[in-house]
Amino acid sequence: CGIVGYVGPRSALGVVVEGLRRLEYRGYDSAGVAVVSDGELHARKKAGKIANLDAELAAHPLPADGLGLGHTRWATHGGPTDTNAHPHVSYDGRVAVVHNGIIENFAALRTELGEDGITCVSETDTEVVAHLLAQQVAAGVDLADAMRLVCRRLQGAFTLVAVDAQGPRQVVAARRNSPLVVGVGEGENFLASDVAAFIEHTRDAIELGQDQVVVITDSDVTVTDFDGAPAPVRPFHVDWDLSAAEKGGFDWFMRKEIYEQPKAVADTLLGRHDENGRLTLDEVRISEEELRRIDKIIIIACGTASYAGLVAKYAIEHWTRIPCEVELASEFRYRDPIVGPTTLVVAISQSGETADTLMAIRHAREQHARVLAVCNTNGATIPRESDAVIYTHAGPEISVASTKGFTTQIVACYLLGLYLAQVRGTKFGDEIAALMGELATMPDAIARVLEGMDPVLKLAADFAEERVVLFLGRHVGYPVALEGALKLKELAYIHAEGFAAGELKHGPIALIEDGLPVFVVIPPRGRDMLHDKVLSNLQEVRARGARTVVLAEADDHEVLPYADVLVPLPQVSTLLQPLVATVPLQMFACELATLKGHDVDQPRNLAKSVTVE
Ligand code: G6P
Repeated sequence: CGIVGYVGPRSALGVVVEGLRRLEYRGYDSAGVAVVSDGELHARKKAGKIANLDAELAAHPLPADGLGLGHTRWATHGGPTDTNAHPHVSYDGRVAVVHNGIIENFAALRTELGEDGITCVSETDTEVVAHLLAQQVAAGVDLADAMRLVCRRLQGAFTLVAVDAQGPRQVVAARRNSPLVVGVGEGENFLASDVAAFIEHTRDAIELGQDQVVVITDSDVTVTDFDGAPAPVRPFHVDWDLSAAEKGGFDWFMRKEIYEQPKAVADTLLGRHDENGRLTLDEVRISEEELRRIDKIIIIACGTASYAGLVAKYAIEHWTRIPCEVELASEFRYRDPIVGPTTLVVAISQSGETADTLMAIRHAREQHARVLAVCNTNGATIPRESDAVIYTHAGPEISVASTKGFTTQIVACYLLGLYLAQVRGTKFGDEIAALMGELATMPDAIARVLEGMDPVLKLAADFAEERVVLFLGRHVGYPVALEGALKLKELAYIHAEGFAAGELKHGPIALIEDGLPVFVVIPPRGRDMLHDKVLSNLQEVRARGARTVVLAEADDHEVLPYADVLVPLPQVSTLLQPLVATVPLQMFACELATLKGHDVDQPRNLAKSVTVE
């Protein structure tokens, strides 16, 4: 979910609704806003996207002065209805609350409120907080103290923002697990899940820590822990501006972000050497000594990030000879994994807020593993709670479906692999320099792929009516196939599956029938023995009537007889091929979804950062 709070001289309504628009990627099941004006609370909320809230506000306007808060929701407890939308207003109409997370003990609290004669009108876990706060303020407790009291009673994940219509001019928030940042302006202050919500007003921000309560007024920001003791704050400056968070002439953020990949990859590679040519990483607070003792690496991630992890496994094992597993974060913790002080857990997360991944690293740290985050969001929870972080400098990724996030995650993991190889001496300086040199050519290689997108766009038009599409790949081409399929599921709502090409004959080949579209990622020719193996797999599906779309090096003439469509790729080494081969698959899904009339940036039922388990 996305949340916003504002106090200052501008129209709170305007600031909050604009902020919500920039956070809509975080959830778009419903949206709502509340403002306090002249001691009165006014709220509007609507199921569906912010456009529905706009219509509601046009029909039933709110005052433009005062202070305010708002919410855009990804439904957890209670379906996406008007009533379940946030803000939730207390029984006496005095307190309004928005919430991101899950309050696990809400049923017990609701029963307790029932005993006090207070009935909840929604099915949400959030509403109890509005009533609990209202009971306190009605008894004369200041909203900030009320918040601290109530938070101590809540279990689960919650970031809450609240206003009291009859209290002092302030917005109060609390943070546990779900993200929250303060935007510090002049004579005005902001609260939001992500800096994007206030970047047009200020680039000065404060990161809130776990279990902190913050009070913003026009001129002050006060941060305490849940007991009211002053808490240290971490101010930071946002190094990108509003234009990075806008579409800049593209129809979708996704398309813009696909085209940003050459720059994103280049930025991720930037400044990774010291003056002696040795690789250095961002914030590795794990000593070289400890890194030499590592005997196992476990990569944990969700969704697209987990496929970046699968790609990374091949390179990391190859370069470092350390066994490397890849596991879905949501599975990791619950299988009692074997981790200890000599395990390096690598958590990959674009947002740095994915709850499954966060819980997995907490579990790993409890077992004394060392945790390194690969993340795109400065100061997010996952890097904060890790021993080390390598940032992917991709810039803000707004589209729900990850693109530049994915390619830069692969690059960052490769940097990690080479760094470990350097520290442990499994690769020499000149070998590392050669590999870094090759990585440095990737922005150009991706740019060349992007120049040749016409056949992919045409293909999307031809395939618009397809209901099933398969993707085959082998070695690092296998995660590329999985990612190609995921993009099509997420965006075009087409049933798509990625298979390891070698596994085809053990089952999936039964699916092949006349005309079935099959994408095949062919490894680089000549230098790679897998090339011929995948070529055979291509022939097998083609012989059974599949319509083949072949991603192969532009001059790979051997594939031509078996390719209905050839998507040419530049010549790169096998381990780097995912960086170029994924790009046409991203574009294919984006274009197909566009042609089908879907909302590409905000696919149904999804959210960009899922802050609940
Ligand atoms: C959500 C998004 C996916 C994304 C995954 C992991 O499910 O819809 O596109 O890959 O989260 O996100 P993260 O921010 O942890 O990389």
